[in-house]
Formats: sequence, structure tokens, C-alpha cells
Amino acid sequence: MITTYKAAPDIDVLTSSFPIPGFGFVPINAFVLHGPEPLLVDTGAVVEREEFMTALRSVIDPADLRWIWLTHTDFDHIGALPQLLDENRHLRIITTFAGVGIMSLSAPLPMNRVHLLNPGQQMVVGDRTLTAFRPPAFDNPSTTGFHDSKSGALFSSDCFGALLSAVPESAADLNSDELREGQIFWATVDAPWLHKVDTAAFARELDGIRAIEPTTILSSHLPAAPGAMLDRLLAALGAVPSAQPFAAPDQAALEQMLAELTAGS
Ligand SMILES: [Fe+2]
Ligand SMILES: [Fe+2]
Repeated sequence: MITTYKAAPDIDVLTSSFPIPGFGFVPINAFVLHGPEPLLVDTGAVVEREEFMTALRSVIDPADLRWIWLTHTDFDHIGALPQLLDENRHLRIITTFAGVGIMSLSAPLPMNRVHLLNPGQQMVVGDRTLTAFRPPAFDNPSTTGFHDSKSGALFSSDCFGALLSAVPESAADLNSDELREGQIFWATVDAPWLHKVDTAAFARELDGIRAIEPTTILSSHLPAAPGAMLDRLLAALGAVPSAQPFAAPDQAALEQMLAELTAGS
């Protein structure tokens, strides 16, 4: 089920709690930034694309949207993208060269409707200036997040995501230990390369994010987090390189799970 809540007076969150059997829930978020040129950040999961359109219509007429910021091309971010582009001929997509390339393999983006923006570059969208950045953790080379000058919010894509036992509307309502452990677990699954990074260099990356001083952190996979939580979010991420790597269930575990399901039916 996709529900909505406000992260700021002019920012709606569309959120789905996606179950990971045996592990918990991961929120899948998209965001609507209202204003003279309304912007949608990501478009939900492919398996929930119809429901995503219904939820989107509850916060804005999709015909009023002018921009989609595609943080990256994974299946939990591109769900309603083809339909939105079909329905609204004014919509343009902010992405990267890698994003265009990956999309060309499944649902090619019309090149005259693409706006390429690289980390470090800015663009003006209505009354906002958006500054693109590469989050310190990501799972796809097309990834860009951004800082919004108007709200002060930082849109971090998959970075700062967490696996949770339940998904509240504010990260401030999470138990501190659950948040830290859920964040570390998510990062070891989503960005296992973090175990290979130089920790001093990674710490400098995290300092760069701290210097942005966002008012709110809006991750694709965490409830909205007030800026005052940034140090905690960064500290958890900083612990990932030396954390226990994710031990994924193997074939023996799968067969055991299937046997338990059969025995119970
Ligand atoms: Fe991803
Ligand atoms: Fe994602």
C-alpha cells in the first residue's frame, strides 16, 4: 500500500513499506516538490506502478508536473516513469548520461526531454536551485541526489536507507539502536563495496555531506529525517566499512525455507 505524508509544507512523500521476507521492511519513497515548476523525485516500484499513480493523483494532478528527477534507474525508482512521460508531454527528466544509457535497454527516454545534470552542477527549477551530488553510498552508477535551496532538504537516493521492523513517518520516531542497525544492514546489502573503501577517504566524503547542513534528509529508503539527525545518520554510515558483511541466504537456506512452508501448508 502506498501512503502519503508531508515532509515540509511544499514536499509530499509517497511511501510504500516493502517487505523483505525474514528481514523486515524497507520504505520505498518518492517525493513531490510543489511550486511554479512541480518536480517529482523518482516514480515508485515497477510492481506498484498503478498504485503509485493513484497515490500521486491524491497529492497533485500529474498533468501539472514539469520535471522528474530520476535519482537512478533501479526498479524501485522507475515504476511509473513510462506512463508519466506518455501522459504528460511537458514532463522532462533530470538524469545522467549513465541513466539515459541504462534506460535505453528497457524504456528509452526521449532525448529531447532529457536534462543531463552531473554531480556538482546546478539547475533552477521554478523558485528552487537544485545542486546535484553523488551520495557517499549508492548501488547504481547513474545515481545523483540533490540539495534543494528552497526547503534546504537533501535528497539522498538509496543512501541512508534502513531495513526496519515497521516504518513510521519520521525517522525521529525510530529507536536509536534499530535505526543504526537497520541503516548498517541496508548499506551492507545495497552497497557491499563499502567494505573495500579507504576509511579515511570515506570519512572525508561524509564530512562533505555534513557541511551541507540540510534541514531535512529525504532518502528513498528511510522515513523523513530532520536535519538534527544528520550526525547520527553519518555515524552509522561511517561504521559500514568495518561492519559484518551481509551473509545472504544460500541454496541450502532456500530449500529449508521452502520445506518449512510446505510443512506448514
Ligand atoms: Fe538502488
Ligand atoms: Fe532504491
